Amino acid sequence: MAFIPEDKLLEIKDAASIEEVVGQYVKLTQKGKNLLGLCPFHADTAPSFTVAPEKGIFHCFGCGAGGNVFSFLMQYHRLSFPEAVQELARRYGIPLTLKELGPEGAQQAKKRATAYDANTAAAAFYAATLASSEGAPGRAYLAKRGLTPEIIRAFQLGYAPEAWDTLSRHFQKRGIPLELAQEVGLLAPRTHGGFYDRFRGRIIFPIFDRHNRVIAFGGRTIGDGEPKYLNSPESLLYSKGRTLYGLPQAAEALRATGVALVVEGYLDLIALQVQGIGNVVATLGTALTREQVRLLKSLADKVVLVYDGDAAGAKAMKRAFPLFAQENLPVRALPLPGGMDPDDYARAHGVELFRTAWDSAQPWFSYLLEDLIINYGLDVEGRVKIFEELRPYLQAITDPVEQDLWLKSAGRRLGVDEGVLRKSLTSLAPISATRLDPRAKLAVSLEKALIRWVLSHPEAVTLEELEEWAGEFINLELKGLLALIITSYKEHGRVDHGLLVQQATGETQRQRICALTLEEDESGGLSVDFLAADWRRDLHIRRLKKARAQLKERLKTAASVEGDDLLALSQEIDRQLDHLKSRST
Ligand code: UTP
Ligand code: MN
Repeated sequence: MAFIPEDKLLEIKDAASIEEVVGQYVKLTQKGKNLLGLCPFHADTAPSFTVAPEKGIFHCFGCGAGGNVFSFLMQYHRLSFPEAVQELARRYGIPLTLKELGPEGAQQAKKRATAYDANTAAAAFYAATLASSEGAPGRAYLAKRGLTPEIIRAFQLGYAPEAWDTLSRHFQKRGIPLELAQEVGLLAPRTHGGFYDRFRGRIIFPIFDRHNRVIAFGGRTIGDGEPKYLNSPESLLYSKGRTLYGLPQAAEALRATGVALVVEGYLDLIALQVQGIGNVVATLGTALTREQVRLLKSLADKVVLVYDGDAAGAKAMKRAFPLFAQENLPVRALPLPGGMDPDDYARAHGVELFRTAWDSAQPWFSYLLEDLIINYGLDVEGRVKIFEELRPYLQAITDPVEQDLWLKSAGRRLGVDEGVLRKSLTSLAPISATRLDPRAKLAVSLEKALIRWVLSHPEAVTLEELEEWAGEFINLELKGLLALIITSYKEHGRVDHGLLVQQATGETQRQRICALTLEEDESGGLSVDFLAADWRRDLHIRRLKKARAQLKERLKTAASVEGDDLLALSQEIDRQLDHLKSRST
């Protein structure tokens, strides 16, 4: 772990409210003093994911994930710890110096910053080239495709000249490390040392993240070269499956409309933007991922898929539907006629259809059902086949009302009794995502119960009491946890869950803290006096038993006089044990 000062961590953690940060990615609803939602870390169907704002932690009763606001960002965005801390410091306006980040964190942060610089410099270089005499072929191509200078500027489009070393020479002059430029995919290594430009003779589409930083590039040939598009590889800045093209340019229109149109291509998106349709983002030429659907969920309330009007486009839309159903994000399909893509369509018919996209589109399930009917027909065999194909879709729907309504609709359309459909659905339902009973997962031990109690009512227990317990705990894991709590208590004069999670020695302990804390919240709990009394009695019994065992050992070798005493002692112990046991039952 990097050495970020603890008070700095506390400051950032306290400024960043966990419900706000998590709420950007997970829809949360209030349940008592906690918040509940679908877990973003496993395929959750019943809300198992709990956020405890007062304590600053989260825990999933389904998959066991848990932690504080830093761990959440680390897991959700696959960030390192210093990266997560930096991100939150940035979001909440808390100054954080490189020195405070510690040597490892500072180095990482510097590397990323330099990588962003390299990308920014490359985008500027390509844009300047497009505007220069060298860029004439690029400008001609874009004009032919109907792009205006304003749009070219808004998307910072560029042109990579048909040469092997213009970018690498430019970087050399500007002191940008070439190895790093290779790492983000701008340069490629030569076999005998040195580098050459990866993008040559291509229109350049910089890809931005939601904070308007250049994270990657796409490059289109202007001739018939292969491949049609060359894209940056995955890098420390770029993860294709977590990115959507056109985000910053769409942000305002997305907020205004609440509807996101999703298209497949860079130029589909730009063609719509040219004609004033702003609420559009593009996948980057691959199947839509769960992360992208979550990203969409944070951007819009409804999504319309506007894929190419061919078999491939239809297939891609159908593959995406279950993700939307699982994430409970309303989605519709807007099929385009005769193999057209959005760009073709907009040029032929204008963009009126896209302005009214949500109303013009088909609800995803009807689209799917009709598509299957066209494929298989409505004879008995066809209908059986159709239902087989529908089943996983129906099972993916997390909202029970929606599931019920589509089931009914499928029943009517296929002429099958709804009850029969439902039965065949549940008989084969996957059990993977069913919610585990949190209480059943735990062996009910007093030690565990005590720790649970301490974690949820830290103010009710004194430090002395904690130390008394700690000396006698048998379970080493719980003993370690208690030691951690005591240390933290001593240092800060209170138990701060978010901080405790930070001080945990590893992922297991971190998850354990969150689980134990929130299980107590769920159960309501017994009083600590009651528990502690029980525990003391149990401890007493254990001690007496141990003493008795020792006595028995000694009796084996004792002389007769001493033996009598020992025997009397042993009997006294038995009597006490009986007494204690009768009280505990
Ligand atoms: P398309 O082949 O439909 O291209 O690929 P397009 O976007 O319509 O482009 P034009 O109109 O022919 O110029 C759709 C998307 O798939 C990705 C790109 O993101 C592209 O925009 N793709 C396609 C690649 O990444 N590489 C390729 O070789 C082809
Ligand atoms: Mn196209």
